[in-house]
Amino acid sequence: MRLFAAVVPPDGVLDELERAIAPYIGQVEGLRWPDRDTWHITLAFYGEVPEHVLPGLQVRLARAVHRYDALDLAFTGFGAFSSARRARVFWAGLSGDPMGRLADSVKAAGRRAGAAQTDEKRFHPHLTLARAKAETDLRPLVEALAEFSGSPWRAEGVQLVRSHPGPRVRYESLGEWALAPARRG
Ligand code: 2AM
Repeated sequence: MRLFAAVVPPDGVLDELERAIAPYIGQVEGLRWPDRDTWHITLAFYGEVPEHVLPGLQVRLARAVHRYDALDLAFTGFGAFSSARRARVFWAGLSGDPMGRLADSVKAAGRRAGAAQTDEKRFHPHLTLARAKAETDLRPLVEALAEFSGSPWRAEGVQLVRSHPGPRVRYESLGEWALAPARRG
């Protein structure tokens, strides 16, 4: 089964993102915009994982996630991988508490449970909004949205998600674990 761990932002901030990108949907050739109900911020991508690994992964994820405080975040700015000029992935970026250590621990939980790690890219927190099969110049889109700044929100949990690939990818949550309540503010 194809698994990844992710943070799913609250509806209110997703509404803001949805309103911001609405005028551009369907306006750029070759760009496909996944349904809003699939939006997430990936912490670790585990790839294909044998079914017997799942229970151990869930236990290790619970342990890892609980060691971290909730994160205060905000969506700020849009960008693209590998660059706005040669984009295949168009995303919303995040500011606020760094997510890197949590992502490392969530990734390590997978490694220890026996999930192969196929994603060696440096962690760059983002929420993917659109994908293109061919490199596309998205500089106009990124510039048009430069003024956007989302409301602050708190990430309170981490989900383990199963991806059912197909013509329209479907995601199934296989568990959610709470981050420790933030001690500040
Ligand atoms: P993306 O949002 O940047 O496309 C499910 O596929 C999630 O895992 C996506 O959010 C995707 O990131 C992320 N992911 C990371 N590495 C991946 C890989 N090698 N193949 C597919 N998805 C990957």
